[in-house]
Amino acid sequence: MRTYLYILPFLLFSFFSVQGKDNFRVSFDELSGKSKKEFIDGLLSRMTIEEKIGQLNLPGYGNVEPDAKKSDIASRIRRGEVGGIFNINGVKSIRALQEVAVKESRLGIPIIIGADVCSGYKTGFPIPMGMACSFKPENVEKAARISSEEATTGGVCWTYSPMVDISRDARWGRSREGAGEDPFLGSDMAKAWVRGYQGDDLSANNTMMACVKHFALYGAAESGRDYNPVDMSRVTAMNYYLEPYKASIEAGVGSVMTSFNEFENVPATGHSWLLKDILRDAWGFKGFVVSDYTAIQEMVNHGVGDKGAVSLQAFKCGVNMDMIADFYSSSLIGLYKSGKVMEAEIDNACRRILEAKFDLGLFHNPYQYCDEERGEKVIFSEANLREARRIATESYVLLKNDGDVLPLKAAKKIAVVGPLADTKANMCGSWIDVKTNQPYGLVEELQNRYKGVEVVYSRGANLADDEKIEFNFTDNKNNVRKLQDLIIKDAEKVVEGADAIIVALGESASMSGEGASRAILELPETQLDLLRTMKATGKPIVVVLFTGRPLALQNAEPYADAILNVWMGGTDAAGAIVDVLGGAVNPTAKLTMTFPRVTGQCPIYYNHKNTGRPMAEGAWFTRYVSNYIDVVNEPLYPFGFGLSYSKYEYGEVALDKSEMNENGTVTASVKVTNVSDVDGEEIVQLYIHDKIRSITPPVKELKGYRRVALKAGESKIVQFTIDSQLLKFYNSELQFVAEPGEFEVMISGSSDNVKKAVLTLK
Ligand code: NOJ
Repeated sequence: MRTYLYILPFLLFSFFSVQGKDNFRVSFDELSGKSKKEFIDGLLSRMTIEEKIGQLNLPGYGNVEPDAKKSDIASRIRRGEVGGIFNINGVKSIRALQEVAVKESRLGIPIIIGADVCSGYKTGFPIPMGMACSFKPENVEKAARISSEEATTGGVCWTYSPMVDISRDARWGRSREGAGEDPFLGSDMAKAWVRGYQGDDLSANNTMMACVKHFALYGAAESGRDYNPVDMSRVTAMNYYLEPYKASIEAGVGSVMTSFNEFENVPATGHSWLLKDILRDAWGFKGFVVSDYTAIQEMVNHGVGDKGAVSLQAFKCGVNMDMIADFYSSSLIGLYKSGKVMEAEIDNACRRILEAKFDLGLFHNPYQYCDEERGEKVIFSEANLREARRIATESYVLLKNDGDVLPLKAAKKIAVVGPLADTKANMCGSWIDVKTNQPYGLVEELQNRYKGVEVVYSRGANLADDEKIEFNFTDNKNNVRKLQDLIIKDAEKVVEGADAIIVALGESASMSGEGASRAILELPETQLDLLRTMKATGKPIVVVLFTGRPLALQNAEPYADAILNVWMGGTDAAGAIVDVLGGAVNPTAKLTMTFPRVTGQCPIYYNHKNTGRPMAEGAWFTRYVSNYIDVVNEPLYPFGFGLSYSKYEYGEVALDKSEMNENGTVTASVKVTNVSDVDGEEIVQLYIHDKIRSITPPVKELKGYRRVALKAGESKIVQFTIDSQLLKFYNSELQFVAEPGEFEVMISGSSDNVKKAVLTLK
């Protein structure tokens, strides 16, 4: 008995320490009292070169069901060949693989689990470009916060978001993933994404690491064709494209993803000016860099070397982790043995991955992101759904509203037609996990909300003229292609006696996004046919436009009385659409990417150059000036444009002084009046034009914006403070400077139609 009493404490101690060691093998004894650096130094000193290279590897998982521990990836984890896993689904599998890493690999280093949580995890928000149209970074921050709350219950602790590529060309299908064409707004949104995902404490169990992408310049792909080369001067890159990435670094983003494109004839994934001089040296980025999906491998296709050469090039540029390609895992050891890569360089790369894991708290508790119980509480919670719906209503842009046909008036019968009227899946966009948990699509939502009103539906048109496109891109496979004559006739019959017709047109979710470039942004004939036929009925025509990018609506616009652009609005898109159509919510959003009249105007953007032969405003075709024979230069809907059920008038722009020096400030103000009888909120925008500078200036640049609530009939003075920071640009030496001279200060509710005052910087 006595002996038992003696050995009991020892047994208990051994039990707990063994448990502890098993659960937190690396961390249990080593973490306490140690700084991150000490801990990681200690760990690195015990790792073999192969284990260090293993940390740089982010493979795909293949099929891990039904028993994740028996999968190939589990064997690789056991052998220390894996730093993280790419886009794996299912918290049980993730937990099982984490257990393999922690309990069965030699050192027990946890794996990092990354996924494309780009506009929501389960609760889905509008596509990022839609959210940007609210000009409300707090919406983006909220969406990112909720995404983190949800994703971190499902095993995910690292998201491949935000995408901050500036895009001036709507043909590029990935335009929808970013904030649009403007670097000033794009930078604000970039910061908001990072804040929302990472919160104040990255090690908390409900925050995840963000990964800004795609570094860099991916949005400027030639001809808007995905993966195509990018070529531009460095000064253009600095002034118009790189700012949002820089903003994310300033906001403390933990990781950066490279991009697929080349720049200056060098693949971005191996571009030392971008990855070393700018990202690390100029901006001081301390986190880790991951390649995009097989981007290192694709450098072989780019034609700059074989497997060993491209691995070496990317590695030497500071790409720390290889997504999917398994190029590092198979070639770095040889490069090390041949002396081309030093152990210190591998240590440096490995350290960055270990630091990220440390910052995420994975060494303290590798299972903290696998929390099904919390998941049940937060995923699709009432509060999250409410926010998703609110944010959706604030992303919808009212492009036209002749005769105030919206909000919908009292009616006995409302007809809904169009190929996108009854597809629920379409509303969620096409990133992996976002689902609608709502029982209603647009038609059912209208039926449900307009009790006592007869709401009728007929498809009326196909999605595309081309059968192959229809087949590949319809998101409702039950909606098989119909004979145009028959469906139009049916629609004509169904709309008889309707007080208003809602026509749901545009593109399906899979027609934008990665690998979904389009050379024709006009609506297809089948949709136009339906629209014209509906217009001929003489009834009010409301187009609800679903799209992931600006479309070219010159042909369609005359046949619509109202156009509400609803992008892909997420989980509760339909509820939000009806909120706006019915007037429960007054639309406020403004475009963050220019809508061309015809595809041939692309790329088209508001902050363009004047040229040496500018076109006179409002003039028709003029030979030997910069314009087209067959279309005006102006877009159909410019950046910053968006209507509301309220109407606003702007007074003259006033400056409190007309001169300032480099350390001074000037206040610009304007009186904005709500001249309607509907309370509203206007997005007031500040633009500045540097009249003369050492390199050619754009005609205007966004430098501020405010959302201002104005009751019916109310006026407010809206003010902006201008300091010399707002007047700066990168000169030909890539120095960020403000040059003395005159600046036009413009304030408006859109990038066109501005009122001006002149400011002199002394
Ligand atoms: C390729 C895409 O370019 C990138 O945005 C995405 O995060 C990765 N695939 C991972 O899915």
